[in-house]
Amino acid sequence: MPAFNNLQLTTERLHLRPLRMSDAPALFGIFSDARIMTYWSTPPWTTMETATNLVERDLKALPAGEYLSFGIVRSADQQLLGTCSLFRFVEQCRRAEIGYGLAYDTWGNGYMHEALTALVDYGFAALNLNRIEADIDPRNTASARSLERLGFQREGFLRERWFVDGVVSDSALYGLLLSDWSVRK
Ligand SMILES: CC(C)(COP(=O)(O)OP(=O)(O)OC[C@H]1O[C@@H](n2cnc3c(N)ncnc32)[C@H](O)[C@@H]1OP(=O)(O)O)[C@@H](O)C(=O)NCCC(=O)NCCS
Repeated sequence: MPAFNNLQLTTERLHLRPLRMSDAPALFGIFSDARIMTYWSTPPWTTMETATNLVERDLKALPAGEYLSFGIVRSADQQLLGTCSLFRFVEQCRRAEIGYGLAYDTWGNGYMHEALTALVDYGFAALNLNRIEADIDPRNTASARSLERLGFQREGFLRERWFVDGVVSDSALYGLLLSDWSVRK
């Protein structure tokens, strides 16, 4: 995949851009909140180092095109609202996985729908993907609604796929095809 470190997308209310080290405190504030980490693949963050490590990882991986990850910034006040990403690219099969998380006090405003619409569109139009998939906890109804609002279909159910902090959970698998997206557009 191409280098993503200079990539930015703009929507009506948002600016999607790579994370910077100066985002670490805001990032920590978002992902240390247990309310958004209930169905995440890790426990809530407990140290700022987790945030700085993630930004450091992005600063290396984005220029190499290993994955695409954006900080979601509200244009009106420059507040970091969350992140969204495309990762696990399989270029031969033109597919990738999608992930996203939004600060709890900003839920219910359509921000993630706006961000994911731009991200998915970029994935299909610019990266030539044919399929985007998501692996979510079947109990994560807010996330399922986000996916279904974009046209993702629930395609599978995998039992006891995750252990987080010793607690096991299942996966619901969702998929969105280029042909689904083209019809919706
Ligand atoms: C998944 C998650 C991002 C969804 O957040 P969200 O606020 O529901 O999503 P959006 O920002 O797209 O907002 C959509 C909601 O805002 C409402 N809304 C208000 N104004 C809107 C607008 N202008 N456009 C679209 N929706 C709008 C919608 O009706 C919808 O509410 P509903 O689902 O109750 O009908 C959030 O719950 C989250 O961060 N969860 C924790 C992290 C996680 O589990 N991530 C997924 C694992 S990969």
